[in-house]
Amino acid sequence: MCGILGYIGKEQVAPLLLKGLEKLEYRGYDSAGVAILDGERLNVTKTKGRLKVLSELLKQGKEIQGTVGIGHTRWATHGEPSDVNSHPHLSESGKFAVVHNGIIENYLHLRDFLADNGKKFLSETDSEVIAQLLEYYDTGDLLETVIKVKEKLEGSYALGIICRDNPDRIVAVRKDSPLIIGVGRGENFIASDITAIVSKTKTIIRLKDGEIAILEAENIKLYDKHKTELKKDISTIDWNISEAKKEGYEHFMFKEIMEQPKVIGDTISPRIRDEEIILDKINLSKEYLENINKIYIIGCGSAFHVGCIAKYIFEKLLRKSVEVDIASEFRYRDPIVNKDVLVIAISQSGETADTLAAVRESRKLGARVLSIVNVVGSSIANESDDVIYTWAGPEIAVATTKAFSTQLAIVYLLALYMSKKLGKIENKDYFEYIAELLSLSSKIETILKEKENIREFALDHYSTEDVFFIGRNLDYALSLEGSLKFKEISYIHSEAYAAGELKHGTISLIEKGTLVVAIAAQDALVEKMISNIKEVKARGARVLGITTQKNADIKKVCDFTFCIPEICNLLKPSLTLIPLQLLAYYVASERGCDIDKPRNLAKSVTVE
Ligand code: G6P
Repeated sequence: MCGILGYIGKEQVAPLLLKGLEKLEYRGYDSAGVAILDGERLNVTKTKGRLKVLSELLKQGKEIQGTVGIGHTRWATHGEPSDVNSHPHLSESGKFAVVHNGIIENYLHLRDFLADNGKKFLSETDSEVIAQLLEYYDTGDLLETVIKVKEKLEGSYALGIICRDNPDRIVAVRKDSPLIIGVGRGENFIASDITAIVSKTKTIIRLKDGEIAILEAENIKLYDKHKTELKKDISTIDWNISEAKKEGYEHFMFKEIMEQPKVIGDTISPRIRDEEIILDKINLSKEYLENINKIYIIGCGSAFHVGCIAKYIFEKLLRKSVEVDIASEFRYRDPIVNKDVLVIAISQSGETADTLAAVRESRKLGARVLSIVNVVGSSIANESDDVIYTWAGPEIAVATTKAFSTQLAIVYLLALYMSKKLGKIENKDYFEYIAELLSLSSKIETILKEKENIREFALDHYSTEDVFFIGRNLDYALSLEGSLKFKEISYIHSEAYAAGELKHGTISLIEKGTLVVAIAAQDALVEKMISNIKEVKARGARVLGITTQKNADIKKVCDFTFCIPEICNLLKPSLTLIPLQLLAYYVASERGCDIDKPRNLAKSVTVE
């Protein structure tokens, strides 16, 4: 989704913005622009397309002088990707320039109001109304003007504002859309995402909803809507810059796939002490757990798929009923949630608008919300009753891999922790699961060493047009993710189906040569899977089977088989996931797709 970067200091800002905006490319975008103050004039350059087009227009930044500026990468919502719809937007006289992330929900009303008062609009965006409002309500006092405009806006926004008459300032405001301030020496930054500024400073202020920041090169002040100055909450980020670099890999996605043994170890090992699971500061008492009658899991995209797998795990280990919901559906369907329900929200970014709204709705209804989040200090983390962080490090590729694996690892830890508290698990089983969890890293490592086998299969099948991912039970839940990963980066149509359900309609799509990926790792269901594989084979499908050595019978019915190391059934999704990620990656790579930034997608979806 859209990205914001702003700078005020001594450096020439155009090359700095171009370089910093590159770090936001991974969020997904279709156009980019900058507004630069050179002391007297406010220059805007913006264009549809990738940053390199903007960079050429700006002669790599040499074209415009100035040390104060704001930049933006846009992911179109209101109005097609075009030069004129790109940000920054200017007010009619060119006095104010604005970059905006989020959606102004009452923009049509504001636009009519401004048009009735003589303002002319150039773009189709909701964002342009902000620039026009700033000019309309201009009092000559920048802070006062911004406060007035803020009162008129409904929806979500992170804003960077500069004004020709205040060439030594940048204003930042946010509501329901992330924005941070980077604190430097003689220079300061605003950014929608830490990655854009981490190479410059690790000292940050996380702007809170409703706060207004005025940045000067040597000074930062925060205000509320009454112009009262607020205390600054300064923190330091413990990010390693190399984590946000490709480090010799061709794509971030591949690097992140390869990092999984390490991040799984980082997420699990410190939380197991003397065979006890310690979940950070969380304490879910036995009484509380006994009283909850339902667990609700919410998330979007891949995080929702972690929830689908988690349902099987929690139900098996806790014998409590679990509902999984897509966050955007949950929030508008009057969910049956109250104090007796534990809501688990899963999100890598911690900023997904629908998941955040579902968290708020759940808490309003009286439920306790526990979130599983990767980005420390993110909105979902801040607004939940309890947070367990996945220690996956920054994930840059739009298609999630290591964040997914670590979310799943937390699900196992949490389910075992709760099961033990409730007395639902025998000690012997508990210790076995702990040992298996601790073996995950090395088993994933073993799978990654065999990646060449998956690559060879991908080389033979990258021109396929349809793929069906089938499985039963946990293998089915995982196939949802296998299919999503595959389609989102390769642009090949794919569907996930419960293997037993295929014959109720979808099998009519199977014909000679159709590719079917059959995940058949659940020991008790292998025989059933063999029957389902035979059904598709009989109609001409080519089948890739994913199983374990123990279930080698699968080999007899598949065209190609990949075996994962042995592990207990419950933990198998953590391993069967890896060949599915590799398959998606190698097929997309062979097709020459933009793997880290697939078309139309965004890493962090901060609009509904
Ligand atoms: C986007 C990403 C997906 C991700 C989903 C939820 O669609 O492309 O990879 O699963 O958002 O994101 P979250 O940050 O909440 O996990």
